[in-house]
Amino acid sequence: MNTLHTIAQLRAALARARQDGKRIGLVPTMGNLHAGHVTLVDKARQRTDFVVVSIFVNPLQFGAGEDLESYPRTLEEDQRKVLDAGANLVFAPNVKEIYPDGMDGHTRISVPVVSEGLCGASRPGHFEGVATVVCKLLNIVQPDLAVFGQKDYQQLAVIRKMAHDLCLPVHVMGEPTVRAEDGLALSSRNGYLSTEQRRTAPVLFETLQQVAKSVKDGERDYPVLIEAARQRLADSGLRADYLDLRDALTLNPVDADTRDMVILAAAYLGNTRLIDNLLFDLR
Ligand code: PAJ
Repeated sequence: MNTLHTIAQLRAALARARQDGKRIGLVPTMGNLHAGHVTLVDKARQRTDFVVVSIFVNPLQFGAGEDLESYPRTLEEDQRKVLDAGANLVFAPNVKEIYPDGMDGHTRISVPVVSEGLCGASRPGHFEGVATVVCKLLNIVQPDLAVFGQKDYQQLAVIRKMAHDLCLPVHVMGEPTVRAEDGLALSSRNGYLSTEQRRTAPVLFETLQQVAKSVKDGERDYPVLIEAARQRLADSGLRADYLDLRDALTLNPVDADTRDMVILAAAYLGNTRLIDNLLFDLR
């Protein structure tokens, strides 16, 4: 298994793979890999011949007071998981490699409208940081395919819009969320939860399922539904940051014609911010 730390080394390895006629797949991550990340690697392996997993905790997408310092860094364990999953290369640059001149004067990619609201409202600058680093990774690797998770639904929408608007020559794929048996979406941040909080956490997904069921059953008073859902979260000790029903294709607010919907939420359990979403349709 090859772990490369510099852009120059990575480009040399990729040039060889391309010369051999291989199609390149990229799975960008921040490490602390779990079964959700592994499904992205599986998908990339099915669709391409040479899979790169990037592991980089991107400081540009963390706000002041967020968990940049405490974010779990488990490179050795991650390398083993990625090897088992059949990836060809790990790209694990340090901050200086990605931001050699620092971050202050660095070019930023901003994707308006779709970055606003939801996570964008409570994490100012977050999606600019995500779009910038993902654009850089796409330019460094120049993959045919890049695979992301639907777990970060707004992030996926931001990346799709960026790739479309900037004519990036890459196919962006979104993969369904992998969950624990009790429904909790797998996340590197679940490790912050105490045993008791971990027992409570599945309420987030249960609440989303309840909203989706009500809408599918014909309930159309969305504000009342959303308020009831917020209350259910609060009763279980989860503080909703947002909980919103959106058009799954555009992320615009739903209207009477919307058929493909997504219910999205972020909620705090203690200091841990969990996000989740559920796609459903009214056909
Ligand atoms: P990270 O949180 O490490 O996630 C890496 C990828 O794994 C993302 O595409 C994310 O949506 C996906 N993922 C996370 N949990 C998942 C789950 N339970 N099921 C399926 N996929 C899941 O998202 C980031 O890193 C960063 O913002 C990044 C895109 C790498 C840019 O820095």
